[in-house]
Amino acid sequence: MCGIVGYIGKRQAYPILIKGLKRLEYRGYDSAGIALITEQSGLQVYKTKGKVADLEKHAEGKDISGTIGIAHTRWATHGEPTSTNAHPHVSSTGRLAIIHNGIIENYAVLKDQLKEKGIEFHSDTDTEVLVQLIDYIRTKKELDLLTSVRIALHQVIGAYAMAIIDKDNPDQIIAARQSSPLVVGIGDGEFFLGSDASPIIEYTNKVVYLDDQDIAVIDRNKENVEFVNIHNETIEHEIKKINLNLSQIEKGGYPHFMLKEIFEQPESLKDCMRGRVNVDLNNVVLSAVIDYRKELINARRFIIVACGTSWHAGLIGKQLLENFCQIPVEVEYASEFRYSNPVINNQDVVIAISQSGETADTLAAVELAKKKGAFIFGICNAIGSSIPRATQTGCYIHVGPEIGVASTKAFTGQVTVLTMLSLAIAKARGTIDIREYEELVKGLNDIPEKQKELLNSCNEKIHEISKIFTYARNFLYLGRGYNYPVALEGALKLKEISYIHAEGYPAAEMKHGPIALIDEEMPVVIIATKNALYDKLMSNIQEIKARKGRVIALVSEDDEKVKALADEYIELPKTLECLEPLLATIPLQLLAYYIAICKGKNVDQPRNLAKSVTVE
Ligand code: F6R
Repeated sequence: MCGIVGYIGKRQAYPILIKGLKRLEYRGYDSAGIALITEQSGLQVYKTKGKVADLEKHAEGKDISGTIGIAHTRWATHGEPTSTNAHPHVSSTGRLAIIHNGIIENYAVLKDQLKEKGIEFHSDTDTEVLVQLIDYIRTKKELDLLTSVRIALHQVIGAYAMAIIDKDNPDQIIAARQSSPLVVGIGDGEFFLGSDASPIIEYTNKVVYLDDQDIAVIDRNKENVEFVNIHNETIEHEIKKINLNLSQIEKGGYPHFMLKEIFEQPESLKDCMRGRVNVDLNNVVLSAVIDYRKELINARRFIIVACGTSWHAGLIGKQLLENFCQIPVEVEYASEFRYSNPVINNQDVVIAISQSGETADTLAAVELAKKKGAFIFGICNAIGSSIPRATQTGCYIHVGPEIGVASTKAFTGQVTVLTMLSLAIAKARGTIDIREYEELVKGLNDIPEKQKELLNSCNEKIHEISKIFTYARNFLYLGRGYNYPVALEGALKLKEISYIHAEGYPAAEMKHGPIALIDEEMPVVIIATKNALYDKLMSNIQEIKARKGRVIALVSEDDEKVKALADEYIELPKTLECLEPLLATIPLQLLAYYIAICKGKNVDQPRNLAKSVTVE
């Protein structure tokens, strides 16, 4: 939800900021803007509706010099995506320019107060209120910028990662964070700002992740960044070394990040399991389960909180944890959980699942559960993000940066971590038969190879199938047991990037309503592998065919029966039933991808979406 970048140093800021915006464009892409302090023209602000490429065109031929600047790519919250509402916003005096990711909840009250004092507003945004407020405090009380920012932030309710520059002080950027992510990069005589580290890693691997209420004072004449909180107390931050390389955040020959990330899954799951699954010793070792053994094995109940795709992973986690650990599990939408009045106590373990580690609802659910005394376990991908920092322990999924807006490798990474967690806790509790445990360890270890085999065998076929089904305006996805959440995930992928309406259902629920939708136009994707519920799934396929529905089936390699019944089929390599989601998800990701491509959609930047949902 909006990406912010900043630079101050010896180099020209413009190319660094534009490149940084492109790396952050996955966070929002409805408008973009840049503010530079140039020697010749002073504060220059260029902004436009559209993408970063449109901003570049807009800035062509203009003065883009200067060694200090801030830039923004927007996902609109307040006010339509127009060039007026795009960031940076400039205060009425023309001195201050601000970029902001988040929401100022009390902006309307503050705006009325400022209007009464004669301040004129030019946009519909909450962000303009923030810059006007800071500048009003600065001029009225003749204060320096840092003090004005601190006083203003005391009056603000909401979430922000923001950076501000003063045309009369081209040596300083002030940045602050509350509930939205912000990273400072520390180079040699130069400093960088980013919503995450991706715009920074090309220049330095030394970073500081800001905490809530932190303010960074970045001065080009000082060796280090000064950190204070909004009460003006000095904060000491450890400089962290990050382990990201450029190839991880570039497309590497693929036409889209989404396709790259789908194909990365065999390698990313190996990374996820590295040092954790040891097939020679027949063992799964998670340091969190060693360090917090007592809390985890004595849990009275697990409550999984997550949103979207991560919530689907949670539904699979519930089945794994209940089957192997014999502990009851509830799976909650974080957005509902945070406003409910959940009955939680200190024997509950809350598992928060989030790729970005920044989802506002999931973070709020964690804070609520913490207040109520639960033990919190995080399953996240983005290292150093807010959710892992708010939890007592957890497991990173370690699948590398996920940039395509539709989540792919993070989902299989989350399911892999949930599988390892279930196995480790079940073994510690003695609730799993040791032979079954060893079979599962081996099965899990074999998944990356099977994914590779599957990707090779199904990619072209799915591309062909997708051409047949671009006509469809609706899709139904069905699955049972462990594959029911896979059906939900397949439907979500399709609607997100192709804008085709799709519903996922447990297959047996079809006859309780959705069957009314089936006619010769309706494609039904069914995950019908040979598992415990195979006969029931066969009956569901018969019911669909009897109503002339068009069946795309995911089948076990040796299953001639379903192949004969289905209009189209994709073969899945054999694996243990509870590991099937790690395979069955892949063809559904590809199907969504190719249908969207056939329809000419922008798969990496689908309309209205953003990768990291840092607002409610
Ligand atoms: C779907 C998707 C979203 C996210 C959801 C939660 O492809 O990406 O549904 O899964 O916004 O995001 P995280 O996992 O970052 O908390």
